[in-house]
Amino acid sequence: MKSHRNLNDVGVIGLGVMGKNLALNIADNHYRVSAFDLDTVKVNGVLQQEKQERNGQDLRITGCANFHEMLASLAKPRILVLSVPAGAPVDGVCQALLAAGVESEDIVIDTGNSQWTDTVEREARYKGQFIFFSSAVSGGEVGARFGPSLMPSGDESAWQHVAPIWQAIAAKVDPKSGLPIERFEPGNPVTEGESCTTYIGPAGSGHYVKMVHNGIEYADMQLICEAYQLLHDGLGMSADEVGDVFERWNQGSLNSYLMGISAEVLKQADPMTGKPLVEMILDKAGQKGTGLWTAVSSLQIGCPAPTIAEAVYARSVSTQKSLRVQLSSKLAGPAAISLDDAQKAALIEALESALYCAKVCCYAQGFQLMAMTAKEQEWQLDFAEIAKIWRAGCIIRATFLQSITQAYEAKADLSCLLMADSFAEQLSLKQGAWRTAVSAAIMQGIPVPCISSALAYYDSYRSETLPANLLQGQRDFFGAHTFERIDTPAGEKYHLVWSAKDRTLSKV
Ligand code: 6PG
Repeated sequence: MKSHRNLNDVGVIGLGVMGKNLALNIADNHYRVSAFDLDTVKVNGVLQQEKQERNGQDLRITGCANFHEMLASLAKPRILVLSVPAGAPVDGVCQALLAAGVESEDIVIDTGNSQWTDTVEREARYKGQFIFFSSAVSGGEVGARFGPSLMPSGDESAWQHVAPIWQAIAAKVDPKSGLPIERFEPGNPVTEGESCTTYIGPAGSGHYVKMVHNGIEYADMQLICEAYQLLHDGLGMSADEVGDVFERWNQGSLNSYLMGISAEVLKQADPMTGKPLVEMILDKAGQKGTGLWTAVSSLQIGCPAPTIAEAVYARSVSTQKSLRVQLSSKLAGPAAISLDDAQKAALIEALESALYCAKVCCYAQGFQLMAMTAKEQEWQLDFAEIAKIWRAGCIIRATFLQSITQAYEAKADLSCLLMADSFAEQLSLKQGAWRTAVSAAIMQGIPVPCISSALAYYDSYRSETLPANLLQGQRDFFGAHTFERIDTPAGEKYHLVWSAKDRTLSKV
């Protein structure tokens, strides 16, 4: 920890849910914080909360009235943590800091969910004026307060200044078990264990990794939702009963934060009606864009990530409620199927396997996407470390990530997670059950776009031959786009003159 008389260690700008909790977390770890927000109510709010939590003793957060006061209150080089909405507000604060006299050695850390390309541009734009650094934060409100997963990237010398603070405030994992060490007590941060932060790479790489984290998050959430619909609508289970199934699954290989909170949501009664709350929540999903960006990036670079893309589409189709209502009485579905208890139990078991397999595929898609972009951008991403820092603090934290770390520790340049023996064995073992679950959903007319697209992804990758030969024939037929042959050297192009009577073949 730095020690400068009367000067604070870190400035936090933007005291919404995330900024406020980051400020309190940093202060809990014995750093002195200057806090600023354009809304003075928020500044007072964080000061009040600290006072309450610390019984008015040993207060470490100072409120600032403006950017000048903020800069004057900090030791140099200043560390300024921005927690403002992605987009124009980030540049707005950067301009305000420039006007207030921020200096070339000062470090400005963007912690929002910014577009990674914006971060690359910003680092270049502000070079020489201050160091624009970034660190995506995952874990929501509780994570920010008691230990998030942090994905810093940018100038390496800036990281040396920031690292001790980041290591202190990040979520911690027990190195032996790989499980999170969680303690949600103000003033008593977790100081033991491995920190869920690591330097990701050059500017933009941290935001890219966080974007893919969110793409996986979208897919993982949708997979759980599809399982819920199959159990609820297909097997006629109550929300509470589905919650029980999820609680049981959460004890096994599907253990994850998202599975745990889904069980809690399903078991919650509506305070207004007493019915299951989930049945009173309108089935229209929101989104802020990071899942979409992941899907777009996968399309642009040519990395198949169908399960992530389907998760984005699932949110889109959910918002078209009135069209769905109209079509629900217009389009036919299959006749209802009734299952006896033994068949129901077998389907629940098959669904657990299906969920596991689909989850492996969505992580495989996310990691392959990061690998392809890293190659294109010349980033040296350490995938074992990335999986490690997602084991606690973040939204996709899951026991399962330990196996991903092990897979990349065994082979750092793994081309695809499906190539790792441990995952290949599990998928081969469970693929029959996966098909059973998908067939049951299809036969009952229940949409499972993520579980089924993951199966198609699995089947595509285990197909030595795909019908792209016919596709190339079609392209050559109408557009003379040429094709390669299986019996001539790679790269040699051929074209058949389809319109000619004798249909001559020529090497192009
Ligand atoms: C996290 C979350 C967080 C947020 C996302 C998703 O890692 O803490 O991913 O960043 O919940 O922005 O939001 P949407 O579902 O609204 O897109």
